[in-house]
Amino acid sequence: MSIQQVMLITGAGRGMGVNIAKAALTAGYQVVATGRNMDTVTKALGDDDNLLVVILDVNSPADAEAAVKAAVGKFGRIDVLINNAANFYGGFFEELTLDEIESQLRTNLIGPMNVTRAVLPVMRKQLSSHIISISSGAGISGFEFNAAYAASKFGLEGWMESLQPEVLPFGIHTTIVNPGFFRTELLTEASSTYAKPSIEEYADRRAGYMAFFNKQNGQQSGDPNKLAKALLMIASETEPPRRFIAGADAVGIAEQKIADLQAQIDAYRDISMSMIYED
Ligand SMILES: NC(=O)c1ccc[n+]([C@@H]2O[C@H](COP(=O)([O-])OP(=O)(O)OC[C@H]3O[C@@H](n4cnc5c(N)ncnc54)[C@H](OP(=O)(O)O)[C@@H]3O)[C@@H](O)[C@H]2O)c1
Repeated sequence: MSIQQVMLITGAGRGMGVNIAKAALTAGYQVVATGRNMDTVTKALGDDDNLLVVILDVNSPADAEAAVKAAVGKFGRIDVLINNAANFYGGFFEELTLDEIESQLRTNLIGPMNVTRAVLPVMRKQLSSHIISISSGAGISGFEFNAAYAASKFGLEGWMESLQPEVLPFGIHTTIVNPGFFRTELLTEASSTYAKPSIEEYADRRAGYMAFFNKQNGQQSGDPNKLAKALLMIASETEPPRRFIAGADAVGIAEQKIADLQAQIDAYRDISMSMIYED
């Protein structure tokens, strides 16, 4: 890096946000590490001249504005934004309450929008910058028991894909990241909320999924340090990818999605192509 770049990360007190912040400091970035609790972020990252810890609940537009102001006040610019913070609401659609679904969409979709909206005026004035949003394998394909989470990540991807051509003329690149399972705190009680059982017909499948997620917790195959390093590499590229798929499991999901989509197109191609007015 010729001039020292500035990276702002959401959710940098726990999980892969910590790995990304540490990797960025090691790579020579000036890092604005944000979180809902400053003590947690400071404890996770320690003290560093290149580190600014700022409070930021992604659900608060006021926090986002203040964090951007603090970042620019301290380091003068923001080159890379990592929309990382999120949580997980598990459960069957019928058992999830409207409040739970709204909360999931607020944190995982509206949250990154809030933060990005606050950062964009700064980025637009710079010649080059980069927004990286962490989606999921569940942002590529929907899964049983993941209705709310997948909806939030699909929303994130539709927003990011639309934002990409809007801001590219300002030299702002965008990357969607699709991690598979990574060993973080996402499946712990602090980050995961499960729908309360309310419909007997789902009982057996619910028990199966609860056992699956409890077993995954702490055993996920992906190493968040390796993901952090890959993100740092992508952030350093002059033409970064619009999408980066992280983990063999996520690659499998994406390849299956492509095959399914192609098969669905082919199965009804004739009728799909015959929708034009004949008059
Ligand atoms: N780990 C995986 O297997 C996996 C797979 C696919 C995608 N992802 C995605 O990867 C990203 C990082 O997740 P992770 O696995 O590192 O999870 P994690 O260990 O649970 O960390 C989540 C982070 O988000 C923060 N956060 C939650 N709500 C917030 C809010 N309203 N405002 C600010 N920060 C908030 C948490 O901070 P608090 O301490 O304040 O709660 C925490 O720092 C997420 O976007 C997640 O969806 C993870």
